[in-house]
Amino acid sequence: MVTGAEDRFVMAMERCTRENPALTATRRLLIRGRVRRDGRVRISGAKNSAVALLPACLLVDGECVLQNVPAIADVLVQREILSAVGAEVIADDGEVRVRAAGRLQTEVPYTLAKRLRGSVLLLGALAARHGHARVPLPGGCAIGSRPLDLHLKGLRELGARVEIEHGYIQAEAGRLLGTEIYLDFPSVGATENVMMAATAARGITVIYNAAKEPEVVDLANFLNAMGGKVVGAGTDTIKIEGGHPLRPVEYSIIPDRIEAGTYLLAGLAGGGSVTVENVIPTHLEALLAKLEEAGVELADAGDAITARLAGRPRPLQVKTLPYPGFPTDLQPQLTAFLLRAEGTSVVSERIFEDRFGHVGELKRLGARVETDGRTAIIEGVESLTGAPVTATDLRMGAALMVAGAAARGETVIDGVEHIERGYERFDEKLRQLGVAVEWLE
Ligand code: EPZ
Repeated sequence: MVTGAEDRFVMAMERCTRENPALTATRRLLIRGRVRRDGRVRISGAKNSAVALLPACLLVDGECVLQNVPAIADVLVQREILSAVGAEVIADDGEVRVRAAGRLQTEVPYTLAKRLRGSVLLLGALAARHGHARVPLPGGCAIGSRPLDLHLKGLRELGARVEIEHGYIQAEAGRLLGTEIYLDFPSVGATENVMMAATAARGITVIYNAAKEPEVVDLANFLNAMGGKVVGAGTDTIKIEGGHPLRPVEYSIIPDRIEAGTYLLAGLAGGGSVTVENVIPTHLEALLAKLEEAGVELADAGDAITARLAGRPRPLQVKTLPYPGFPTDLQPQLTAFLLRAEGTSVVSERIFEDRFGHVGELKRLGARVETDGRTAIIEGVESLTGAPVTATDLRMGAALMVAGAAARGETVIDGVEHIERGYERFDEKLRQLGVAVEWLE
């Protein structure tokens, strides 16, 4: 039942486009690569924290305030979903107030949910608040089938009756009981959904083989700030003691490690030195270790990291793994960075079954890459040449920004609406990095 949510979303998008011209999808981004300049850029709040903490605000009756929330399309959609279920959401320059009072709708409109996989996180939040949730299956996307079996398993083991019908996940979760749940894969979303549902379960819930990503820790810290009892987040065993009354709080979201890694790679690819500010260096350990292997000089000072590379990178062998392994969300960007390596690199994508969509477009810039299932073999070339390219998913768009910075001449990126999903003011930030960019109407 779409209760005017679609209209409100369209109006919100129109307002957002008026306020943020860069969000106009009909524009294309032109990058002039190899413009050697030093740059520094401030990193925004983490998309994948914001997408989880916004639904978590529904766990309490009252007004939560989230700080350091990035102004990106995925966050806009999640805010609209909260409004659609009846919360009052007010966003102002990085601060989002979510006021969820009384009885909310427990059905998420399909027209909004289909825009964002993170809509599935409304399942745990609404089940915990009202004992009922009806959330559209978010559908697959450009990087694989993205099943939800672990989300459903977790809720069922907590005692919810979960059915899938007419494209919706229907959960009856009136009486949730704490239990021990083993996740066959350390799924970030499944861990987050179970954590939220478990706050309303009677007794103790233990999640074994839980995801250890910093965004999971951020959610645990938020729940604890509300008065929840979550211990072990960041390890593979998380224990949640349910039934504690939760109260509204103010909370600041962690910086976005994937945005930080993207701009480190883009700045290095452009040939300059690059400093990213407002980061948590330990969240980037896997990338920093690989950059050092590639010959990059690194210096970190508190919440800033500076990287510089004289000449071309050394080739690497990389495999993506759950945190703290190398993050799949930086695999396309690292692949782009290795296109000019002095030798042959091997990149193995172990998380998603179909995340080399960027390779075809990178070849248009002169890259020599062959993929075989989950492995890409990259034969480094001395130089790339700019070309028109099209992004069809978020991190592919990020990879094209990195490759455009590395290529001689002009690269024109179409499909920038995909980049807008996860990168706040990316045109300005690329300029601050020293990468020459301009908009083509
Ligand atoms: C989160 O997605 C992130 N999104 C993704 O970031 C990220 O790539 C991913 O975690 C892995 O780190 C958000 O946090 C909003 P998963 P999520 O469940 O939770 C399998 C980006 O670019 N799996 O950890 O959907 C699944 O098929 C996005 O910012 C099951 O088998 O990822 C995949 O192979 C892309 N059954 C693996 O686990 C399930 O029930 C990782 O998925 C769930 C997942």
